[in-house]
Amino acid sequence: LWLITGIRRRQPGEPPVENGWIPYLGCALQFGANPLEFLQSRQKKHGHIFTCKIAGQYVHFLCDPFSYHAVIRQGRHLDWKKFHFDASAKAFGHESMDPSHGYTTENLHQTFLKTLQGEALSPLIETMMENLQSTMLQSGVLKPKLSEWQSDGIFAFCYKIMFEAGYLTLFGKELDGDQSIARQQAQKALVLNALENFKEFDKIFPALIAGLPIHVFKSAYSARENLAKTMLHENLSKRANVSDLICLRMLLNDTLSTFNELSKARTHVAMLWASQANTLPATFWTLFYMIRCPEAMKAASKEVMRTFESSYQKVDPLNSRLVLTREQLDNMPVLDSIIKEAMRLSSASLNVRIAKSDFLLHLDNNESYHIRKDDVIALYPPMIHFDPEIYEDPLTYKYDRYLDENGQEKTSFYRKGRKLRYYYMPFGSGVTKCPGRFFAVHEIKQFLSLLLAYFEMELLDPDVKEPPLDQSRAGLGVLQPTYDVDFRYRLKSH
Ligand code: HEM
Repeated sequence: LWLITGIRRRQPGEPPVENGWIPYLGCALQFGANPLEFLQSRQKKHGHIFTCKIAGQYVHFLCDPFSYHAVIRQGRHLDWKKFHFDASAKAFGHESMDPSHGYTTENLHQTFLKTLQGEALSPLIETMMENLQSTMLQSGVLKPKLSEWQSDGIFAFCYKIMFEAGYLTLFGKELDGDQSIARQQAQKALVLNALENFKEFDKIFPALIAGLPIHVFKSAYSARENLAKTMLHENLSKRANVSDLICLRMLLNDTLSTFNELSKARTHVAMLWASQANTLPATFWTLFYMIRCPEAMKAASKEVMRTFESSYQKVDPLNSRLVLTREQLDNMPVLDSIIKEAMRLSSASLNVRIAKSDFLLHLDNNESYHIRKDDVIALYPPMIHFDPEIYEDPLTYKYDRYLDENGQEKTSFYRKGRKLRYYYMPFGSGVTKCPGRFFAVHEIKQFLSLLLAYFEMELLDPDVKEPPLDQSRAGLGVLQPTYDVDFRYRLKSH
């Protein structure tokens, strides 16, 4: 019978199995409703590892952080490429980027490391700082009176500012000597249009990853294709100050792949999505929690002012040329802790590997489990981020959680008296760890620094509760709030 219904029986040496109530879907609905609650309840029942059937796939959830290294280190039995390449091709509509499929010989991993880390980071940060300032202070374009209170949703505000600045930083500006107000407004309209398309497409991203075809979603499909049109190589090549990432990807698309022009453009849409989809909600949570916590605001402002003063920079919105070097950004432990704490509370990325063959997975407690070929092994970092044995009062926001007694970055976290190697994982792990993580944290620090330097900010309702997380995106990264929260801001008088 179990062969007919597709239900797996636990074999000796395998982790305990939860087949769920529904054939094929298995535990998908319970998991989807609230993954953290579901996994915590199963962990209580089964211990360090258990298997759930989710939408036809058997997924082994490993819950013991001391055993994480068994999955994170690149073992010969585990494959990470299959999931990544498949997911990207499915969502963005380009042909496979897996070199073994024959459409390209580009080593994407190398491309990312070369253009987002090391020496590539400083120019990225520099451009981002300029773009953030001109976006935030609306220089050139019809200015609202920023010296008077402006009200907005924090989510809407973060999306507008960070998307525009991030988009221009990666994809450059239109190559056009004409700097008239009309021209600038047209450029701005183009970016805001891209933001609308991005949001329309991003809404259905979880459905695409779950396997639904994009044609079911007409407006999201046209949103994605509109974005792709703006990223055809003939259009990108008319832009100035395009980032190393996009320049190199264009070159490698042209020289190493057999993609047609539309497919090439769709690979750039994938880059846009990767660079924004997590950064935008992460910026929202960081700003929201910071504004709501007076001690956090105070400590952050102090750090920001100290940083600008120590490099003799004057904050002047009429001459907005503040600079933060990589070194300065690396030396802002308060902002660092504020960002980490917001992401601890809001990130929910599933770290996934696929078994290339039957093998024995060795856990930290000396137990070993048989894993079958093609099964998925998953780590769900919120299990650590909300573990009360690691983080006291895990549901409470504490802006200084990641500061030690000297006010520097805290890196010692313990569980049952043992020091943890993995205690904070919003960027994934091992080979699939986000290659843009340094840029991401730097750009959020820049955003906060500029806001704190130029503006006064306050919540319209100082006692507002945090909006619940939208769990429909659980597994994919930083979760969005289910609704926006209003605040107001105005230029400080300097
Ligand atoms: C992949 C998180 C910002 C570029 C990932 C992954 C996570 C992640 C969890 C997948 C790792 C895995 O599957 O194990 C985040 C978060 C961000 C952020 C939380 C912001 C707060 C950025 C930015 C960029 C970027 C700003 C680029 C400018 C990428 C790329 C990949 C990726 C290219 C795919 C890597 C690959 O497939 O090898 N990110 N990311 N990310 N991220 Fe980020």
